[in-house]
Amino acid sequence: MELAALEKQLRTLQTESTTKIGAASSLADLEELGSSLLGKKGALTDLLRGIGSLSAEDRPKIGALANEVRTAIEAALESRRTVAGAAELSARIANETEDATTPGPLPAFGSLHPIPETISAIGQIMGSFGFTVAEGQEVEDDVTNFQLLNIPEDHPSRDLWDTLYLREPGRLLRTHTSPGQIRTMRAVEPPIRVILPGRCFRYEAVDASHGFEFHQVEGLLVDRGTTLADLKGILDELARGLFGPAARTRFRPGYYPFTEPSVAVDVSWGGSKDGWMTILGAGMVHPIVLENGGIDPETHQGFAFGLGVERIAMLRHGIPDLRALLENDLRMLRGLR
Ligand code: PHE
Repeated sequence: MELAALEKQLRTLQTESTTKIGAASSLADLEELGSSLLGKKGALTDLLRGIGSLSAEDRPKIGALANEVRTAIEAALESRRTVAGAAELSARIANETEDATTPGPLPAFGSLHPIPETISAIGQIMGSFGFTVAEGQEVEDDVTNFQLLNIPEDHPSRDLWDTLYLREPGRLLRTHTSPGQIRTMRAVEPPIRVILPGRCFRYEAVDASHGFEFHQVEGLLVDRGTTLADLKGILDELARGLFGPAARTRFRPGYYPFTEPSVAVDVSWGGSKDGWMTILGAGMVHPIVLENGGIDPETHQGFAFGLGVERIAMLRHGIPDLRALLENDLRMLRGLR
């Protein structure tokens, strides 16, 4: 075929196509037009079969023209699509009647990680007994983390807490939430009922049930005539709230320098996996600690407890290894609501 003839055919294809496209009124028609004009078996491809008979110098001319035609057709399709799409949408809106009773699509709910979930469950239960939530600080000083809690410098009981000391003298990462007891007693007048949740740090080897970073919730009640029975009563309620109505607590003798007497508390939740698990340390606030908090131990007594959030989260959600809680595995979030 001759160059001129092929050029003319291409031009004709262009004008005919844009006219057809201009007349098309639905997206479906445009779709069909698009493939009949530009598709693999479309009109343009068909025309270009003639290119083989052209001379080597004419071929690029036809190639360039063919691209021009293709671009023009594509542009015409695109602008017509916009118009037809809008028309179809408004026609649909005009015709559709809306059923307001149809349930909408369910939104994707986020969920809490087991640690904050457990902290907030504890907060709710304790809140029902009048405890409010306060916060201590993660970077503590030696005085508040130890000395005011009746743990003198160089006292062997310090070995209970493997401590991460900061370079700045006297500063450390808190080893427990108990320094919050002192800060609270110094800040507010009794009666005091607070819980202090937060992250704690210890220089420990990490395994399935220990981390160098973990969470505690401290509980502190200071009032007149407070006894160990009050502590037992509240902890029983807490255990039932966390693990269900069959849960019980068991007090064993324990030792902490800042409580006297001190107890270790185990919980049993009565299920098939029945057994006892130590979840917290507690006791009556030591008179020296009350004094350090500015409270007269002759008129006021208090109890305190510190519970391990990870252990409780593991029990509540059947998580076998504590490390899974810190690994950013999204499955940690999916199982919970
Ligand atoms: N602070 C103690 C610990 O981390 C727990 C505790 C808190 C014990 C309050 C008694 C009273 O081991």
